[in-house]
Amino acid sequence: MTLLGGTLGTAQLAEFGSWHKPKFTGHRHCTGGILAHVMEFACGGDHIVRRLPHGGSRELPEVDPDIGVLLRRQADKQVLLRVTPDIDIDGHRAVSTGVTDQKFGFALAGGRAARAIKRILDQPSLELVGLHCHIGSQVTDAALYGEAVRRMIAAMAEVRAEHGVVLSELNIGGGHAIPYVSGDQELDLCTLADFIDDALDAACTAERFPRPRIVIEPGRAISGRAGVTIYRVVAVKSQRGGRTFVAVDGGMSDNPRVGLYDAKYTVALANRHPLGPTQPMTVVGRHCEAGDEIARDVVLPTDVHTGDLLAVACTGAYHHSMASNYNMVGRPPLVAVGNGCSRELVRRETITDLLARDCGWTNPQPAPPRHDTGGCDALLRGI
Ligand SMILES: Cc1ncc(COP(=O)(O)O)c(C=O)c1O
Repeated sequence: MTLLGGTLGTAQLAEFGSWHKPKFTGHRHCTGGILAHVMEFACGGDHIVRRLPHGGSRELPEVDPDIGVLLRRQADKQVLLRVTPDIDIDGHRAVSTGVTDQKFGFALAGGRAARAIKRILDQPSLELVGLHCHIGSQVTDAALYGEAVRRMIAAMAEVRAEHGVVLSELNIGGGHAIPYVSGDQELDLCTLADFIDDALDAACTAERFPRPRIVIEPGRAISGRAGVTIYRVVAVKSQRGGRTFVAVDGGMSDNPRVGLYDAKYTVALANRHPLGPTQPMTVVGRHCEAGDEIARDVVLPTDVHTGDLLAVACTGAYHHSMASNYNMVGRPPLVAVGNGCSRELVRRETITDLLARDCGWTNPQPAPPRHDTGGCDALLRGI
């Protein structure tokens, strides 16, 4: 199955490459315009057939990079198209992916999705089996998925009316919220199921459309709570009338979410049971940015000191995979812990790792002196 206009980004390149390289046979995870580049790196260009845009149609630049990727030699031909149903989750704009004015998918508004659908249906080598959308992340209101279902079924009914094709699959993406701090709401799965079911019933009845197979893509809801990041305190700075900063041995290189969209976290002292007073503090990272913060106004013991360990909860999704070498800092290890045992899953990055791509440089032999008698050279040498 291939997904157009969809999900796999360069961020997942390494994962994609490591899963697929050894036994790559076809594309089962796909994306929009950057797919070709991702796959070229991960799987080698031979697995991708790109088609150059034909002249003439104005729609082609919008559609061709995606569809062209699919015209490959030996891949399966089933296609889902990612569309944007214009649903605003009222969250941070960085994770509001269901509105029309952002980079993902083909908008239902303005007929863009309809044109892409037609282009796919016009390709005898492709079989459009359904539509996909992902309205955003940290969605707490299940009713938004109900609305998405309603709009998507209406779009599927339009496809049937226009082309006589009954799409049998509807993927409504993920975005199921988990609580990062106390008081955060999470998406209740039973409520979600009810909303999806009711919306399907209503929309399919209204459109006289057969119930499609429903697919959901819970992301962080699966693994987010399974991860905890442990930092070591490297310094504490208190200022009269100002904040108290607790600096740790990590930061925005292992967790860019705070800087990217002001994510909030729960932090606790992890190496001892503090008995004394507490106060709000700001946990900051080791990088050269004042904005390199991990959590603001978290309550920690006033005697927190260098060498203490801090645990940051809910870092099992979008942390290891988002980590970078910002400031040429090595990434931390990933350790599985259970039943009193621990096992390193990903080792700590070393300086050798950081320098592995360095091609080296040797001073080239100085060029033999030239004896020009004019031009710049002459000027420089005072001739
Ligand atoms: C297409 C798609 N599906 C599902 C998800 C999972 O989202 P979340 O982890 O917010 O549930 C994402 C995340 O960005 C996505 O892009």
